[in-house]
Amino acid sequence: MNSITTETSKKSSKTQIGFTLWFTGLSGAGKSTIADILEKRFKTQGLKIEILDGDVVRTHLSKGLGFSKEDRDANIRRIGYVASLLSRNGVIAVTAAISPYREIRNEVRNLHENFVEVYAKCPLEVAEKRDVKGLYKKARAGELPQFTGISDPYEEPLNPEIIVETDKQSPEESADKILKWLKENGFIGV
Ligand code: ADX
Repeated sequence: MNSITTETSKKSSKTQIGFTLWFTGLSGAGKSTIADILEKRFKTQGLKIEILDGDVVRTHLSKGLGFSKEDRDANIRRIGYVASLLSRNGVIAVTAAISPYREIRNEVRNLHENFVEVYAKCPLEVAEKRDVKGLYKKARAGELPQFTGISDPYEEPLNPEIIVETDKQSPEESADKILKWLKENGFIGV
């Protein structure tokens, strides 16, 4: 059986396929909200899933890391490494970190066999207006240096598998779009 056939039969079998669903986007773009909805949907289908959320990971695995490029890169490499371990063992790993740098996202992509990049696209003005955690206000006041989108860069993905426009669609609609893509591409059953 050649590798293409193996891949095809693997994806069409009833066994759960491990993959990493890698969200990227500004703070407040809706990454964690959509990840939480997906978690419920996957669990309803009896699928194994773990969320690696930026804010949560920074309380243990990446505790002590800040927001310099060096620290963000270290954070993303750690998340990418854990996600790769989970996904190669049949789990759906959903990551929800800003992951602002393209090069490191591509680096973690290369650790994976099954990697799906999801761009949670949201104009800065909208994320800033939402300001769920009040951090944009602090960043504008100069109390929070190196804040993504304000005083630190965010590099949009050039070729993500999925784009969800979170200023135009609800979190549920974004989750639906992602699930549809995953079904159409054989990552989850219909
Ligand atoms: S990443 O750049 O390393 O991917 P990560 O997603 O883990 O970032 O953490 C981002 C979260 O940390 C934001 O959602 C926000 O709650 C908080 N935060 C605190 N300071 C900053 C900052 N300077 N830039 C971005 N997010 C920050």
